[in-house]
Amino acid sequence: MKIFTDTFIFCLSTILLFSGNSINAFSYDYSATTKCLVEPQRAQYGGGIIVNPDFNSSLEGWTADRLGEVEEGVSKAGNRFIVVHNTTHPLDSLSQKVQLEKGNLYSFSAWVKISEGGETVSVVFRTTDGELVHGGKVIAEQGCWSLLKGGIVANFSSPVEIGFQTQNTKVEIWIDSVSLQPFTKKQWRSHQEQSIDKVRKSKMSFQITTTANKTAMQGAVVSIKQLKSDFPFGCGMNHNILKYTDYQTWFASRFKVTTFTNEMKWYSTEKIRGRENYTVSDAMLKFAKQHGISVRGHNIFWDDPKYQPDWVKSLSPEHLRKAAAKRINSVVSRYRGQLIAWDVVNENLHFSFFEDKLGENASSEFFSTAQKLDPNTIMFMNEYNTIEYSCDEKASAVNYREKLQEILQYPGNEGIIAGIGLQGRFGSGQPNLAYMRSSLDILGSTGLPIWLTEVNAADGPNQAQYLEEILREGYCHPAVQGIVMFSGPEIAGFKNMSLADTNWKNTPAGDVVDKLLGEWESVTMEVTADDTGFVDALLFHGDYSVTVQHPETNSSATLSFRLTKDVPQATIDVRI
Ligand SMILES: *[C@@H]1O[C@H](CO)[C@@H](O)[C@H](O)[C@H]1NC(C)=O
Ligand SMILES: *[C@@H]1O[C@H](CO)[C@@H](O)[C@H](O)[C@H]1NC(C)=O
Ligand SMILES: *[C@@H]1O[C@H](CO)[C@@H](O)[C@H](O)[C@H]1NC(C)=O
Ligand SMILES: *[C@@H]1O[C@H](CO)[C@@H](O)[C@H](O)[C@H]1NC(C)=O
Ligand SMILES: *[C@@H]1O[C@H](CO)[C@@H](O)[C@H](O)[C@H]1NC(C)=O
Ligand SMILES: *[C@@H]1O[C@H](CO)[C@@H](O)[C@H](O)[C@H]1NC(C)=O
Ligand SMILES: *[C@@H]1O[C@H](CO)[C@@H](O)[C@H](O)[C@H]1NC(C)=O
Repeated sequence: MKIFTDTFIFCLSTILLFSGNSINAFSYDYSATTKCLVEPQRAQYGGGIIVNPDFNSSLEGWTADRLGEVEEGVSKAGNRFIVVHNTTHPLDSLSQKVQLEKGNLYSFSAWVKISEGGETVSVVFRTTDGELVHGGKVIAEQGCWSLLKGGIVANFSSPVEIGFQTQNTKVEIWIDSVSLQPFTKKQWRSHQEQSIDKVRKSKMSFQITTTANKTAMQGAVVSIKQLKSDFPFGCGMNHNILKYTDYQTWFASRFKVTTFTNEMKWYSTEKIRGRENYTVSDAMLKFAKQHGISVRGHNIFWDDPKYQPDWVKSLSPEHLRKAAAKRINSVVSRYRGQLIAWDVVNENLHFSFFEDKLGENASSEFFSTAQKLDPNTIMFMNEYNTIEYSCDEKASAVNYREKLQEILQYPGNEGIIAGIGLQGRFGSGQPNLAYMRSSLDILGSTGLPIWLTEVNAADGPNQAQYLEEILREGYCHPAVQGIVMFSGPEIAGFKNMSLADTNWKNTPAGDVVDKLLGEWESVTMEVTADDTGFVDALLFHGDYSVTVQHPETNSSATLSFRLTKDVPQATIDVRI
């Protein structure tokens, strides 16, 4: 378990859920996560297990002990809501007790508004032990209602009290349309499958006719073979790839996208001031190119003071400015046009090495320079804990979105092609998929591509199962456009989550990865045309080759095509 700032607040495995108004409709409503509305929307799922979610029946179902701290309100349009004055002890002011069942995932949502300014409002769940579990947050505004999304995954059966909190205790919180909807793991999984069908596949039809008289070719056999997957699901690699041919074979037979875990970092390429050495990353890039593996550039700068080259740590601001300018010019120019992404500034929500020394706009300026040097490559922020831990205030999805918007609104940065990098380094314990999903929803509202960039599940008895849950949740989310794990074979030093042992035998985590690689590709299939000459197939996006043959006439045709998410449905006419 990870312990965060306040001694009494620590993070259980909380989870958040998605929007969508019925349990069966699996829809991602991004717009609601950005809009601030004059009147709140009605409670999702009719409030789920919350009693009196819209406060239509005064405070029925809610506990409000201290008089004067909670008030009922009515809008001009007649909507009822609740105003909480005392936000220091929100659960003492207003709470509702609900029963959580072990194994279920709970999606939470509420509409909130505050009396002044803009403040982060969190939902907290108090367990019977008195622990406060954070379940999501929003930056609420004065004068209009914002959607607070979040959730909790119950690894225990117990009652919890739901309440709201803000750091600034002087503001009032207005609350309405509270919802907590339970899902079994099975329901959750079925939502994922529905989403995968919708966002990762397209419906392909083949109309087979004869060349001679254009009549339908009943009985024609269509063989469909996927050559390449369109979804980048890859794995980090390190310098050992240059040393072990077994590692090369293992890697190249599985993955088409990678990130060098450390070899492109500043501390690797300029260990000694002024002596740049790209030998290793050049060789790794060469290997990747030879095998058709795309590479994410990781990273230009890392904002954590600990991970600077030693000689950089003590530079004066003036010298740092020069050294940083040289670094960004050097690495970005060297690999211009050869990478699919740059992690421009790593972890700049948690750390501020460059901002502290060079000024508050350091990250924005780095994005600006990188874009000018390599205009066609996607420029990413890259952070941890945004999807992993609901109690990490600094890296929450709303803070991430704010920081990225600040960078993109910096004068001159308007045209930057930007992406959202989420490391996804999960600790031990049940991953909070509901919280993960809500964070992806919030960031998905930007319309920018999201990549999970360093996916990892901590060592432990359920590592493989948790890894699978995390990968499935990422893959099913429509805003996620790529996944890279930071893992590999044990021989290369990936010990915490190795995918293959020293004999190249899969670990349980390795089995999960191979299973998903197989599952997320269309198996080669043979389908026979019906009397209308039609063959339909729901296919994963990617490159295909197709052979059509008639068993009696022996006439045949071959074709190839690429299926992308831009074409949800297509028909190809085939004459044989
Ligand atoms: C509460 O009242 C509003 C109208 O003011 C209505 O739209 C809504 O459905 C009511 N909620 C419930 C749970 O009855
Ligand atoms: C069309 O051609 C196919 C084979 O070439 C033949 O079997 C079929 O009878 C023809 N149909 C018509 C209507 O001519
Ligand atoms: C650069 O790094 C490589 C690999 O570590 C090393 O073999 C080589 O000697 C280095 N070159 C220089 C000039 O230091
Ligand atoms: C940072 O950039 C903003 C414009 O986005 C500007 O208003 C501000 O003055 C800049 N800060 C510094 C220290 O230059
Ligand atoms: C629930 O999860 C938390 C955090 O991962 C862990 O500390 C706790 O022991 C778990 N409880 C049970 C009953 O598994
Ligand atoms: C491996 O796990 C240990 C113990 O949990 C941790 O301290 C270390 O940072 C991990 N290493 C990596 C590369 O994640
Ligand atoms: C089709 O091919 C099979 C096997 O090669 C052969 O036996 C058959 O005679 C061929 N039919 C025609 C119509 O050419």
